[in-house]
Amino acid sequence: MERDVMYSRRLVVTGAGVAAGAALLGQNAWGQAQSETRERTAEAEVSAAEELMRQHAVAGRLLLIYDKAAGPESGSAKPSAKALVSTAEMIRSNVDEHHMKLEEESVFPLFQKSGTMADLITVLREQHTAARGLNEVILRAAEKGESTSTESLTRDLRAYTRMLAAHTAYEETVLYPQLRTVVSPQEYERMETTLREADRKKLGREGFAGLVAKVAELESTAGITGLAQFTARVGSERTAMGTPTR
Ligand SMILES: [Fe+2]
Ligand SMILES: [Fe+2]
Repeated sequence: MERDVMYSRRLVVTGAGVAAGAALLGQNAWGQAQSETRERTAEAEVSAAEELMRQHAVAGRLLLIYDKAAGPESGSAKPSAKALVSTAEMIRSNVDEHHMKLEEESVFPLFQKSGTMADLITVLREQHTAARGLNEVILRAAEKGESTSTESLTRDLRAYTRMLAAHTAYEETVLYPQLRTVVSPQEYERMETTLREADRKKLGREGFAGLVAKVAELESTAGITGLAQFTARVGSERTAMGTPTR
């Protein structure tokens, strides 16, 4: 049956097999196949670099919660230990065990094979190891219900956030722009397919939008109400309003 569905998806893409596909699958399965085809087409429009960068962006959203836990602005409560546990678990699942694993298995080897950026790759791998270890320490502390004001937890949250900010910035400005130059077009295409398939499997039917919705929900439980609260106060506005309380 799965082979039939796959066959019919291809017919939809070519636009040549609508009647044949509907007859083969029945209307319900046909509708599902059409829907999945639309999802596949949308995913196919994301390049490998875009795929990796939007994974960084999700990490960045989660790190807003770590940042708030490490030192919220005056008048703002720290996220609860429960919210911090959920954040650490999402980072482990989406960053440590998914994004970093993809880089280690499908991206870094391409650079190593071509003999370029060896020193950078070494540092990036070391930081993946450090990030995994540090996030587990943060998770264990949060699971114990430790106050997010403990000195060691605050230090670990800041260290993780700082390292990931630098790490992702270097990957996006130095590594990813060279992706196409270190491999043949065929190798690049294979890598891109691997990333897309892994992401599709990880995200399921809800896709990237579903993941972002989950992150937004988590932000909300951590007391983050949206982008506007991060707008900096400038000059006289800061003086007139005193210390920001958001
Ligand atoms: Fe990385
Ligand atoms: Fe990365």
